[in-house]
Amino acid sequence: METTQTTGARRLTKQWWVFPLAAATVIFLVTALPRYVGLDPAQSLVPTDRGAVFYPALVTHIFFGSVMLCCGVLQLWPWLRNNHPKVHRWTGRTYVTTAIPTGVAALVTSQFPAAGPSQQVGNTFLAVLFLLFTVQGFRAVRQRRFKDHREWMYRSYAMAFSIVANRFWGMVMVMLFVPEVMSGADFGTEDPTLASAAAASAWVSWVVNLLIAEWIIHRKPRRRRQESASRKVERQTPVSASSGMSTLPPS
Ligand code: HEM
Repeated sequence: METTQTTGARRLTKQWWVFPLAAATVIFLVTALPRYVGLDPAQSLVPTDRGAVFYPALVTHIFFGSVMLCCGVLQLWPWLRNNHPKVHRWTGRTYVTTAIPTGVAALVTSQFPAAGPSQQVGNTFLAVLFLLFTVQGFRAVRQRRFKDHREWMYRSYAMAFSIVANRFWGMVMVMLFVPEVMSGADFGTEDPTLASAAAASAWVSWVVNLLIAEWIIHRKPRRRRQESASRKVERQTPVSASSGMSTLPPS
């Protein structure tokens, strides 16, 4: 007989995807944050000489964004949702409260692009959609529309996680378009090909995440797929009018 422990372990194994997500978040934060905690613009990974508001907006969005990313991964974890609904509620409130300043500050930084108009438009769309999805998710839960809430929050998190995905896509774009950088060649941040690679990465990072979120939202769970397949077979099976029995040979 199956014990509660084995059922619990099986459920956790099914939720394996949350662990790489959490690991990627932690690695991103541990490697990205130290440059900004000292509030020294010279330490920033990206150039900061873009007007007086850029750096304050950048660090605001990084600090709030870090809290938000940690809460986001906890929100997605089904085990925590099911077993500790109070924790889910509080991390959810923190997610929304930190998402607003993160998104608004990102909307400001997006207007000072280092890589030109394409990056500006890509990041502005990202910030606006992220704010929109988060607010929709919050409204849905206040109105007790739980299915809508889950769907909007998947989309919101997909947008938030794009900063982590950007580390991967940034590398891919550089390898594709300016492979010389990998062998130590010095390209200034002004270099147009490098700027195009950065802009491409800004777009790909959130578009791919959003597509994955839409796939998760719209795919049918395996049980529902099996049920609809067997309903289809039942409908297609010819039944003898007189006996009421199937005329197909047994498989
Ligand atoms: C959700 C929408 C977000 C948008 C629209 C956004 C937008 C931006 C923009 C425009 C920049 C400046 C890039 C440049 O022009 O050089 C930036 C940098 C940065 N953002 Fe975000 N961001 C978002 C979310 C996040 C989150 C959740 C974090 C988590 C901590 C984050 C962390 C950073 C970091 C660390 C930088 C500095 C550059 C780097 O180290 O890669 N962002 N972001």
